[in-house]
Amino acid sequence: MKTIKEIFNLELPQKDIEIRGWIKTFRGSKEYSFAEINDGSLRKSLQIIFDNKNENLSVFFEKLNTGVSVKIVGDLVESPNRANQKCELQAKQIEICGECSPEKYPIQKKRASDEFLRTVAHLRPRTNKYASMLRIRAELSFAIHNYFRNNGFFYVHTPIITTSDCEGAGQMFSVSAFDMDNLPLNKDGKVDFSKDIFSQKTALTVSGQLEGEALALALGKIYTFGPTFRAENSNTYRHCSEIWMIEPEMAFYDLKEDMELAQDFVKSITKHVIEHCADDLDLFAKFVDKSLLETLKNVVENKYEHIAYGDAIKLLEKENDKFENKISWGADLGSEHERFLVERYFKKPAILYNKPKEAAAFYMKLNDDGRTVRGMDLLVPRIGELIGGSERENRLEVLEQRMGDFKINKEDYWWYLDLRRFGSVPHSGFGLGFERMMMLITGITNIRDVTAFPRVPGYAEF
Ligand code: 4AD
Ligand code: MG
Repeated sequence: MKTIKEIFNLELPQKDIEIRGWIKTFRGSKEYSFAEINDGSLRKSLQIIFDNKNENLSVFFEKLNTGVSVKIVGDLVESPNRANQKCELQAKQIEICGECSPEKYPIQKKRASDEFLRTVAHLRPRTNKYASMLRIRAELSFAIHNYFRNNGFFYVHTPIITTSDCEGAGQMFSVSAFDMDNLPLNKDGKVDFSKDIFSQKTALTVSGQLEGEALALALGKIYTFGPTFRAENSNTYRHCSEIWMIEPEMAFYDLKEDMELAQDFVKSITKHVIEHCADDLDLFAKFVDKSLLETLKNVVENKYEHIAYGDAIKLLEKENDKFENKISWGADLGSEHERFLVERYFKKPAILYNKPKEAAAFYMKLNDDGRTVRGMDLLVPRIGELIGGSERENRLEVLEQRMGDFKINKEDYWWYLDLRRFGSVPHSGFGLGFERMMMLITGITNIRDVTAFPRVPGYAEF
């Protein structure tokens, strides 16, 4: 059995080819009837021709509604109208696998809104747009693995259930085997986690970084590619509660090398998708974002601007009248500031480095100025922050001091501190949000539409 993608590559003519898929459209005319069938293997559908005189076929016509699943056997011939497609199938046999009522099927030919399609996320992959998105998602995943494999990185698997809060922001989903209606309490009336399944309090990971560091300090260059979870109640176009993150970690890399890698990585995977998903990208360039190909060219071809946080603040302060939230030294940039820098000021991606220590995570290496840390964010048009990363604090005393500043319990991180006790080396890494990368590549403006079943505050259907 061949997919439509494979069928399009066959030499013509071919006898008795079977195709299986879903009817996109069906229309009759006097002597012949026509159907477009798609099987998900590529954006294009295959045209099927039915001879109306053949009663073995015409008995099925009234059931060939949009969405019906079929098996059709026929002869593959050169299409008379080669401009549209190279071949078509002259049907000889039809078998209906699953009927589909035109009155009830929510995915009709006319274009539905993104908001509506989110409520039927189990069916929206059958639309052209979401099928293209999902094929690009698959190819982008492959591009990421391919990039790291070609550059000497090992793919590692870090835990999803964890006891450490990597970003120290307390935005974690608890994991417990307790019966929530009957929680065991200790003498102080607090929940007694020593009675829980792991004998301690656990949560879903926000990042694989801390465990990734342990593995990089053994294997040299590693990366993770897995689900991470954020319990922050942010209802924005670029925040999701469940995201896939790619986190490379490299022993002996300093911040500058980390920034170089981040730039090379983003360019390389973007280029891969441009080269391998032309047909699916074309849909987004036509119907979603007319400037998409230009943006992608910008991402692939330009050298990214490097700008120190302090310089960015000076520059942004002059534009404060343009912003909803005024910016000043010490604050984290919001999406409006990030987007101003890359969309209107530099007009290309930029890497912001040396953040103030207050706006940074505890593990970022303190600079000699005592005010800033070796952290960086890679910013891109339309999204803002695509990557967050840093050189890690590799000096035991300084790290302990920083954990103290953040009121982090050192005993809980004994193993993380051990990495600084035994053969500590400078090391760096970053995290790329896979869904944000998908937004960049497709031009889709809402993170809810770049993943099949989004998890966002207030919504976890499916
Ligand atoms: O900047 P973040 O929080 O950095 C870390 O988690 C580090 N531990 C990474 C590292 O150095 N290994 O997250 C990294 C990236 C962000 O730049 C963003 O692209 C994405 O993950 N991200 C989110 N994407 C969508 N929704 C959210 N709630 C996200 N939180 C982070
Ligand atoms: Mg960040």
